[in-house]
Amino acid sequence: MSGIEIIEGDITRLDVDAIVNAANQSLLGGGGVDGAIHRAAGPELLAECRSLRGCLTGEAKITRGYRLKARHVIHTVGPVWNGGRSGEPELLARCYRNSLALALQHDLTSIAFPAISTGVYGYPKEPATEIAVREVKAGLMDRSAPARVIFCCFDAETAALYRAVIARTARPS
Ligand code: AR6
Repeated sequence: MSGIEIIEGDITRLDVDAIVNAANQSLLGGGGVDGAIHRAAGPELLAECRSLRGCLTGEAKITRGYRLKARHVIHTVGPVWNGGRSGEPELLARCYRNSLALALQHDLTSIAFPAISTGVYGYPKEPATEIAVREVKAGLMDRSAPARVIFCCFDAETAALYRAVIARTARPS
């Protein structure tokens, strides 16, 4: 299958070429999806992350997946929401763009994203979803993305929001 898919559930269970981690600048683990990925991948992931020496907001770095089904983890650092006038939308867009580009550079054909920045970092869900969908659609259109892109939503409400935003942006305006 190719194009955009929405899956509801735990990203650590997905059998894809890469799952994306919503990390922090240290890349040394944390709570939320980051904690879940490190727990599921095992201590080898932390060891490889240490060698990366951190990651700037909006950038992305790749590691192996270790005990995950996913072959790789792409670690990206979303912006902390600070009212929206501190460059948050562009930084969030760069997380998606840079993660897609890194996947393509490594010849990966499937990638799954969590809803970056919308947990601990407090980015409001609707504008964050609009950015995620816009960037992935643009990547699929100009072939700067792997053929199969999954939005992995942790709950039904988030999945419904992604479906609504995708449907809304599919309509000609
Ligand atoms: N699978 C899929 N989505 C998940 C999972 C999971 N297993 N667990 C949580 N989510 P967050 P952030 C969703 O807080 O806002 C960490 O401590 C969650 O419901 O994980 O970018 C890092 O180390 C939410 O929609 O990431 C950083 O310090 C989304 O993933 C900081 O949190 C993102 O929530 C990053 O904060």
